[in-house]
Amino acid sequence: DDKRLVKSEKAEDIEEKYIVDGQERFVHTVKTPVIDAQDKVIGILGIFWDITERKKAEEEKTTLKAQLHHAQKMEAIGTLAGGIAHDFNNILAAIIGYADLALEDAREGTVARSNLEQVLIAGSRAKELVRQILTFSRKTGQEQKPMEIAPIVKEALKMLRSSIPTTIEIRQNIQADSSVIMANPTEIHQILVNLCTNAAHAMGENGGLLEVSLTDVVIEPAIVTDFGALQEGSYLKLSVKDTGCGMDGEVMGRIFEPFFTTKTVEKGTGM
Ligand SMILES: Nc1ncnc2c1ncn2[C@@H]1O[C@H](COP(=O)(O)OP(=O)(O)OP(=O)(O)O)[C@@H](O)[C@H]1O
Ligand SMILES: [Mg+2]
Repeated sequence: DDKRLVKSEKAEDIEEKYIVDGQERFVHTVKTPVIDAQDKVIGILGIFWDITERKKAEEEKTTLKAQLHHAQKMEAIGTLAGGIAHDFNNILAAIIGYADLALEDAREGTVARSNLEQVLIAGSRAKELVRQILTFSRKTGQEQKPMEIAPIVKEALKMLRSSIPTTIEIRQNIQADSSVIMANPTEIHQILVNLCTNAAHAMGENGGLLEVSLTDVVIEPAIVTDFGALQEGSYLKLSVKDTGCGMDGEVMGRIFEPFFTTKTVEKGTGM
């Protein structure tokens, strides 16, 4: 570097990363050749600044910005979806109501009757979808209380065992000392069932291994992750791991978007 500088006879302004004692440090360097009266380079003058703190702060700012952007997007989707769902609910009530009335008049065994029954089946599916959308958009969150998570995990896995293919082995790895957390049991149950169902879909009929673990984690110092800030303290980590097809970068980037799905309209709602 210095040889090149001597040759070029120009000042250099660079940022470099070094590993010092196993830690990343960013250094801003300005180097300039020193020239004597005969225009001969007789040395190099360099100034270094440790800009690690500034770099870290910049990184944190970028993460926080991304989080804010994400939160605003979620809020906008929520408001929009909530508004549509509300109107749609009223229209749906009319569709279901009139189909019900018509069904009373339709004679047993007629085509009209079975057609109306299909209308009602589709109607109730739509109702369920609207309910899910409204739950998301209201986002009031269920009440949180101290609860034992381990029994919920066990119970959910027991239920899942009967609903996912036997070619998939379910391994349960509960290592936490105490499993009391602040949460809502119904929500935890729902989250776990959804994650495990995704995992089962990713593995398909060929099967594989589904591993659910509950472990103690200590966060220290506080950190900012892609999904929010975590204060320092003791946490429980619930993780779901599968040996399925995995996700590419694009899917991974959108995984926390509500209603995002790679499945067909009939199959997935992406919640
Ligand atoms: N464990 C996984 N392995 C591979 N891909 C996954 C996994 N979990 C989710 N995905 C991908 O992420 C997408 C979104 O998942 P999400 O659960 O939000 O919706 P969905 O499963 O498509 O629909 P729904 O859950 O409403 O049935 C899926 O369509 C799938 O492509
Ligand atoms: Mg899913």
